[in-house]
This record gives sequence, structure tokens and C-alpha cells, in this order.
Amino acid sequence: MKTAASRLLSADAAGISQAAALLRAGELVAFPTETVYGLGADARNGEAVAAIFEAKGRPTFNPLIVHLADTTMAKSFVNWTESANRLARAFWPGPLTLVLPLREGHGLSTLVTAGLPTVALRVPAGPVAHALLHAVGGPVAAPSANPSGRISATTAAHVSAGLGDRIAAILDNGPCSVGLESTIVGLDGPPTLLRAGGLPVEDIEACLGHPLLTAEAAQITAPGQMLSHYAPRARLRLDAAGPHAGEVVLGFGPMPCDVNLSPSGDLREAAARLFDCLHQLDAMGQPIAVAPVPRHGLGLAINDRLARAAAPRP
Ligand code: TXA
Ligand code: MG
Repeated sequence: MKTAASRLLSADAAGISQAAALLRAGELVAFPTETVYGLGADARNGEAVAAIFEAKGRPTFNPLIVHLADTTMAKSFVNWTESANRLARAFWPGPLTLVLPLREGHGLSTLVTAGLPTVALRVPAGPVAHALLHAVGGPVAAPSANPSGRISATTAAHVSAGLGDRIAAILDNGPCSVGLESTIVGLDGPPTLLRAGGLPVEDIEACLGHPLLTAEAAQITAPGQMLSHYAPRARLRLDAAGPHAGEVVLGFGPMPCDVNLSPSGDLREAAARLFDCLHQLDAMGQPIAVAPVPRHGLGLAINDRLARAAAPRP
């Protein structure tokens, strides 16, 4: 984690190209969108994405929104649909996030999607966000740029006060015009409102020509919370000192095991690999013994996720 104060970059050509270079190098950069400031990282770089959760002090791994320069880039990561086409034509760039099924070979870190088969995508409005994403030339994962549990940042000063000592840079473009997070619509089934936000629901319904389902009707938990989780089929046993007969082992630190979250015991690497490791072990079709993972820093979110994966399911 960074301890020096972050660099404040002005939103001109030089500042934007420095911010893009830092993002490409795996650093965290807060950047302005029309809704709120985002805490950005290269969405293909698992350790950079893990650093987002570390900097925010998030005790859970919620999936993140992936920001793109334009619709063409967005389409390259997902199986695009007719509804997506309508909504993107009407509202992108703008305060609308679309959740769509991931396409094979998408190349995004599994931490971005929390292991889910879907991803949340958004093309933010405003020349600065556009220029930055264009300069990065790839997908940028970004939650709101505030410490976990605090209100979203709508100025560079808010970002600096909350996260200034934990991130590489802040791209300052003054206050955000919308000031409210994007509206999130799920399109992996019938169009569903997952979170109300900066784009009025009425506008979305008028564009589609029919009402959106609500999250309750679609039987998913409340917006803002985890909407769904990748759930391994295999049974997990946590804090295992060693394997019982027939178990495969998820290790942490130097130890004999089938799959290791981080042989060197690095929590950032472990976070980045968590969902890949669970998918790999799940494919082996045997119960999983999980070695103890320290309960500090990113270890809290890792343990939270493992506990959910181990919880009995209907
Ligand atoms: O305006 C915004 O949306 C801001 C700016 C920075 O773009 N971002 C933002 O991100 O509000 P965050 O992380 O605070 O909220 C992301 C929301 C979470 O509630 C998460 O559960 C949901 O998006 N989400 C992300 N991926 C999802 C997925 N695959 N399925 C369902 N929900 C998802
Ligand atoms: Mg937030």
C-alpha cells in the first residue's frame, strides 16, 4: 500500500497521459466521471484490482463496474444483446451500467466480477473520462473513490481526504455533474433494475418500451449488496490444518496443496487468485480443505468470501 501522498494531476493532456500510464503500470488512479469519482485499476490485472479493495478497506469482494471508452470496446467483453444495443445507443456515454454475460476469452481479472459469469459495464460521459479511457486503451475497473462505508467522492478533495495516502494519483476535473452513482440494469435475463441511480428509470423504460423487473421480482438480494455470488458446488472446510481423506487442498503460504492462493503468503496475490483457485478446485469435483488465511488487510475480504462459499446452501 502507498504511504506517500498521491499526485494531484490536472485534467489536461499531460495529466491524462500520466494517469493512463500509471493505470497501465498497475497503479491505482482516481478519476472523474459524470456520476462520482472512480478508483480505477487495470481490469485485466488481478493484483491491481486487489489493491482497490485494499485501499478502500472493503471487507467483502463485491463485483466492480468496468469502464470503457466506447460501445465498441464494451462489446468485445460480453455477449451483446438487442436490449443492450438500444440502451447503449440511447444513454452511452452516460450514467447507466449494463450487466451482461461475459464472453469467452474476455481477459478480465476474475476478482473484477467476483467469479460471476456476468460483468457490469459502463461508458462514462465527459471528455476527461473519455480521453483517459481512450489513452489507457483497455478496461478500467472502478468503484466509487471513497473508503468503504463512507459517502461517494464527488470532488478531488473528497478523494484526497479519504484515500490520498493510499493511491498513486488523482486526476482532478472539479466537481462531478451528476453526483449520484450510475443506474444499474441487469441484461443477463429480462431487463432488471439492480440499482437506482443517476439515470431515471422512466427514461430506461421508455427506451425499452416496457417496465423493468425489480430485483425482488427477479429474486436477487437488494441493490448495493451482493446481488449474487459465484458458489462452488464442492463443500468447503475452512481453517483446515490438513486434508481429510478425499479432500483437495487450497493452500496459503509455503505448504503442500493442490492449488495455492499465494505460495509466498502475499494477501494481494491471494485476493487476485481467489476466484480462479475456487473454480479450479471446484472442477476437481471433491470437497475442499482450505488452509487458514490471516484475518487482516485483504485477508478479511478473502475470509468473508470463503465463509460464504462454505455456508450451507438450499
Ligand atoms: O457511477 C458509478 O456507477 C460509479 C462510478 C465510479 O462509475 N461506480 C460505482 O461502483 O458506483 P460501486 O463499486 O460503488 O458499485 C458497483 C455496483 C455494486 O453494487 C455491485 O454489486 C454491482 O455494481 N455489480 C457489479 N458487477 C455486477 C454483476 N456482475 N452483477 C450484478 N451486479 C454487479
Ligand atoms: Mg460505492
